[in-house]
Amino acid sequence: NLPSRVELVEVGPRDGLQNESAIILTETRLELITRLAAGGLERIEITSAVSPRWVPQMADHEAVMSSFSGHESAQRYSVLVPNLRGLESALAHGVREVAVFTAASESFTQRNINASIEQSLRRFEPVMRMASEHGIHVRGYVSCALGCPYEGEIGAERVADVSRALWQMGCREISLGDTIGVGTPLAVKRMLEAVVRDVPLEGTAVHFHDTYGQALANIYAALQEGVTVIDSAIAGLGGCPYATGASGNVATEDVVYLLNGLGIESGIDLASLVDTGNWIARQLGRDNSARVARAMTAA
Ligand code: HMG
Ligand code: MG
Repeated sequence: NLPSRVELVEVGPRDGLQNESAIILTETRLELITRLAAGGLERIEITSAVSPRWVPQMADHEAVMSSFSGHESAQRYSVLVPNLRGLESALAHGVREVAVFTAASESFTQRNINASIEQSLRRFEPVMRMASEHGIHVRGYVSCALGCPYEGEIGAERVADVSRALWQMGCREISLGDTIGVGTPLAVKRMLEAVVRDVPLEGTAVHFHDTYGQALANIYAALQEGVTVIDSAIAGLGGCPYATGASGNVATEDVVYLLNGLGIESGIDLASLVDTGNWIARQLGRDNSARVARAMTAA
């Protein structure tokens, strides 16, 4: 009983680029987003309104946000915001969807956003109020949902607690992040079972990094649990600067190939995606980490 349709949330322009060491021109980011949209990705996380001292790669977030504001299009563009200041900036640049982020691990939350989990949730309260006043859709990320680079194993109950808190404060989607890609399918199943006791299944999303090569298996497990929103990044780009050992997100190309094989609709043109992945990999001077892209390009 797999879903017949899923929504992909493309996080390449944000998660994918936040960890790159080389400077990426704003025009390259804009072209990436435009190409992704043209390939059928309806939901794209385009940047993060965070401190440039913390994440230098996102320093041009104002320019990126304003480029995609006010467009009449089928696309849903979202922006990661850590605090009220981030939301105010997003609103000022015409953004209609944002994501807040915390974690199920105290040590990671401290390193990533310089707060305890409790403090981070309190910091989100005014964000949620203002978002609600402006009719802004808010997603909440829970990092370290399957393990933490500093604390190791994270119990499913802790993930469920943070997810419930975010849901109760008004996040309408909870994205469960395997930040360092350590999870396996059974852990995914147990974690989701705990989360959906308090959060509706339709309000969950999965966000898997592929560090240990488990992401596609984990996505399959999540699909079997009924999850219908999947995060991924073009060319398997990505990583978190505050998670030692984190590598790229699961590649969008690989996820689309899996979905196509399962007969699950995603509305995405795989050939166009492969072109875009090869293009951005060239821009970054990297190999394309998407296995499907490599296979289709060699063939
Ligand atoms: P702080 O140092 O505790 O806060 O940082 P602060 O209020 O003292 O601010 C520090 C500086 O940032 C100040 O500037 C502020 O003005 C500025 P200074 O006086 O030093 O020049 N500042 C801002 N600038 C722009 N936009 C803002 C903003 N807020 C403050 N919104 C803070 C706290 C949260 C700001 C900081 O820790 C931060 O920006 N962290 C971001 C970390 C980050 O982006 N991590 C990667 C994304 S999360 C991720 O990748 C995981 C995910 O993919 C899911 C998964 O895989 O698990 C989502
Ligand atoms: Mg991530």
